[in-house]
Formats: sequence, structure tokens, C-alpha cells
Amino acid sequence: MKISVIGCGYLGAVHAAGMAELGHTVVGVDIDAQKIAALTSGRAPFFEPGVDGLLQSRSDRLRFTTDISEVADAEVHFIAVGTPQAEGGAAADMRFVDAAFASLVPHLRPGALVVGKSTVPVGTAAAIAPQVEAAGASLAWNPEFLREGFAVADTLTPDRLVYGVRAGDDASVALLDRVYSTTLASGTPRIVTDFATAELVKVSANAFLATKISFINAMAEIAEVTGADVTTLADAIGHDTRIGRRFLNAGVGFGGGCLPKDIRAFQARADELGVGHALEFLDHVDQINQRRRARVVELALAALDDQGSRDATVAVLGLAFKPNSDDVRDSPAVDVAVALAREGVRVVATDPQAQRSAARKAPAVTIAPTVEEAINAASVVLVLTEWPEYRDLDPAALAPLTPARVVIDGRNCLDADKWRAAGWTYRGLGRS
Ligand code: UDX
Repeated sequence: MKISVIGCGYLGAVHAAGMAELGHTVVGVDIDAQKIAALTSGRAPFFEPGVDGLLQSRSDRLRFTTDISEVADAEVHFIAVGTPQAEGGAAADMRFVDAAFASLVPHLRPGALVVGKSTVPVGTAAAIAPQVEAAGASLAWNPEFLREGFAVADTLTPDRLVYGVRAGDDASVALLDRVYSTTLASGTPRIVTDFATAELVKVSANAFLATKISFINAMAEIAEVTGADVTTLADAIGHDTRIGRRFLNAGVGFGGGCLPKDIRAFQARADELGVGHALEFLDHVDQINQRRRARVVELALAALDDQGSRDATVAVLGLAFKPNSDDVRDSPAVDVAVALAREGVRVVATDPQAQRSAARKAPAVTIAPTVEEAINAASVVLVLTEWPEYRDLDPAALAPLTPARVVIDGRNCLDADKWRAAGWTYRGLGRS
């Protein structure tokens, strides 16, 4: 099939490459010429395992352009532009979605299908559909659930496909089934529903995940004052299959380009709909999450005070909001590093992938190329992103670099016994 993808940021670039991998002929469009040049040369302008490989191996049926008129012969157009948090507010900024539809509609041919993938406030599709339908085309909403670090697998073999369509719009369902025929053949569940439900599936899934993380982080707060161990607690409750162990890792909390802004935009939309009370709990979810960042800052400062001076260096291992990503959007690690620098502490940070993006965002933080250079002479070491290489660090080999030997494990990812045996004072979150 001939497919276009409008918006070649993180989601759109991966989706375009994934569609080409599924056998379609794809044109990706973006207004950012630099992004298009990078993608055309076979390199994604972000770190994501597997994407460059797809861009290069599928270049025969995958191209990128800044010229929207080149989408005119596509049968299916995916809208994959961002919906960031609006400046100075909680709601989603819909400028890019509005602009994408406005630029696409004049090029639609009758019978074409426009498919929204962006995460949008519930009610968006119903409001936009008339302009698509006036051009003789149809609209569907097909939310995306991909996780950074696993984006290629999540695109090619998703947990489920959700199609939001007008009641009785079998033609759009049939077109989407053709788009995803390979995926469906491998048994992926597909849910066909209305626009509003499809939009809500996405934001409610993210709200649930954020709630699950904040739940265990709330338990960490309780554990800290009772001497209990939140990781053992998570293991124990996670054995109940109704609860499940995944997304119960207590630590410095969630960040990234999705969960934080999505729960805020969801609340803002509920307020607009007059049912803000239904999502008041998400405000607590957000607050618990913010408190964990503050708690790590507090623990680091207390450790410095124990050593008698704040005129000291704190090493931060990990800047990305999670491993296997160079993304520092709403990163707890960057937030903690900046907060400590603001307290007058010298912060030296490192990350396997996010050094450049973090340096732009946090100029007050010194970036070191290696763990050893970050740790050298530091009074406190903070681990804030659970990169596999940090889990595997040898505490005995690092010990001579820092006389103080204090490590605060903001992701509960280190082997506490091993670090203690090597002479370190180990402190996790939600565990004594
Ligand atoms: C999320 C959703 O998982 C995905 O389905 C959606 O499409 C986009 O948003 P992503 O932002 O890539 O994906 O990251 P995710 O793996 O969900 O992690 C989000 C944050 O939660 C990270 O900062 C991570 O470190 C944190 N987290 C996750 C925890 O603190 N504890 C956990 O147990 C799990």
C-alpha cells in the first residue's frame, strides 16, 4: 500500500520505518528540513535501537520530504505529530495536530483514509472529522503504545491494535486491516471502537501505568519510615497475577515525553468536560512522583551534611529518563542534578547516550564522558537511570576513586550487598 506519515519525530519516524518493514511504500513528511535530511541519510535524529537499521534496509520503499504535496497518491495518511504540554498550562498543545490536518486536507483524494496516531484529548477526532470528510476522505484514530527503547518491536508486534472509527465505517476498518495484515496474521488482538474510546484507551493506559508507579513510590515513602523494604514488598504483591510485578519498580519516579504530560493533559480535559473530580487522583500521582525527586535531593544533601560540607561534588550516573534512550524530557535525573546544582553543589554527571541532550538542557551540570571521571573525588554518587552498565559496575574497582564511598541508588538497581561489601555506604529508595 502507499502510505504517508505526517510528522517524523520520534513516533512518526519509527512508524514510517515500521510501515516500510511491513511491506508498504512510505513517504514521511516533516517541516523540519534537518530531520528530513538525517532520516534520508538513514540515521534517526534520536537514539533508538533498531531504527537506523530499518531506515537503511528499507530505503527502497521509504523516503522523506518536507513537501506535503508528495503525499497526494497515498491511500492511508498517518498523523504522528507531537502534542506537548502547552507552555504555562497543563493541557496538550494542539498546534501541531491542527497544522498537520490543515496542510494535509487540500491534498486528500476521495476515498483516502486519515489515521490519527498522536495522543490527543478525548473529543479531538470528532471535532476534526468533518474537515476530512468534506474532502471525501475518512478519519480513524489508531493510538500508539510504543515505549522508547522498544519502539521497533512495539511497532511491528504491538500488544494490541485499537481502531477508533465512525459507527459502521467498515471501509476504514478494512483499510487498516490491510495496513496491519502482517501484524494481525501473527495473532495481535484488534479492538474496533468509536473515536472517543480509542482516544481514551491511550491516555487511560498511560494514566494507569503512572498510577502504578506512584502507588509503589507511595509505599516507598511508608517503607522509609517503618524500616520495610519496598522492593521485597513489590516482589510479594507482584506475585498476585491481578497486580503483576511490572511497573512496580520504586525509585526516583517516572519521566519522559509521555507519562507526565499525558496525565496532566488528561486532567485538564476532564476539567473542561466538567468531570475534573474523576481524575483528581492523578494530581496525587503527579505529586508523589515529584516528591521522589525531592527526596533524592534531600538524601544527597543530608549525605553531604554528614560529611561536614556542601562545598563538594556529587556524581550523577544516568541522565536519560530511562535506559536505552537519549531522551531527557522531564527526566527525573536531570531534575535532581539541576536541583542540586541550584543548592550550590558541584554536579558532575554522565550517561551512555544522553550526554549531549542533557548538556543543552542543564548547563549548570558538568558532563563527564565516563563513570570513572564522574565519580572521581565525588562525595556522593547518585544512580538515577538504571542502565545495564551501571547495574554491572564493580564497586570495589570504583572505591579508590572516592574517599567518601556513599552511593544513593535512585533506581534500586544495584546489588546492595555487593556495594556494602566493597566498603560503600549504600542507600536505596524505600529500603533501609
Ligand atoms: C510510555 C508508555 O509505557 C507507552 O506505552 C506509551 O506509548 C508512551 O509512554 P515511555 O515513555 O517510553 O512509554 O516509558 P516507560 O517505559 O513507560 O517508562 C516511563 C517512566 O517510568 C520512566 O521514567 C521509567 O524510568 C519510569 N518507571 C517505569 C518507573 O519509575 N518504575 C517502573 O516500574 C517502570
